[in-house]
Amino acid sequence: MDKKATLGQVMISEEQLAQRIKELGKQISEDYKGEEILLIGILKGAVVFLSDLIRELTVDTKIDFMAVTSYGASTKSSGVVRILKDLDSGIEDLNVIIVEDIIDSGITLHYLRDYLMGRKPKSLKICTLLDKPERREADITPDYVGFEVENKFIVGYGLDCDQKYRNLPYITCLEGI
Ligand code: IMP
Ligand code: MG
Repeated sequence: MDKKATLGQVMISEEQLAQRIKELGKQISEDYKGEEILLIGILKGAVVFLSDLIRELTVDTKIDFMAVTSYGASTKSSGVVRILKDLDSGIEDLNVIIVEDIIDSGITLHYLRDYLMGRKPKSLKICTLLDKPERREADITPDYVGFEVENKFIVGYGLDCDQKYRNLPYITCLEGI
């Protein structure tokens, strides 16, 4: 990364995040009323979002995590997806929701969706905090979206650049990269 990169202005504030996640939690709780769900958080970026989302859900909820990589230390997708950590348990006959931080090219989720569908869940949906539709290369449409964002490199609230900035409580972007 260019050493001159700096943090931009706040794009989505803590208050806006909290409000939207409350709405998402309500919507998911209504959609799955009377059912049990399994949230699969995609490490590491989705950790902050998942931990806030789960506390807005009123349905029985289990969690599991997967770690995948397609980026390395670069800010552009390599197009190659590799599983670094698989699920702890099977998902057969479960209502699964993949929880992701951001969908960019869609390559990661396209791969993950096919992979998880092969494990025969009862249902499979995608919930992403952020969506960058302008950059889409793979055919992926999320079922739940927190916010659409412009084609910038986003950091904060779990999202990183080279493992940095995940701890910012708001969403911003890097300028000068
Ligand atoms: P995709 O496969 O191109 O959709 O990329 C998905 C993954 O790349 C996300 O889960 C993020 O971890 C990472 N990513 C994509 N865009 C950004 C960004 O703007 N900031 C930080 N991470 C990003
Ligand atoms: Mg990610």
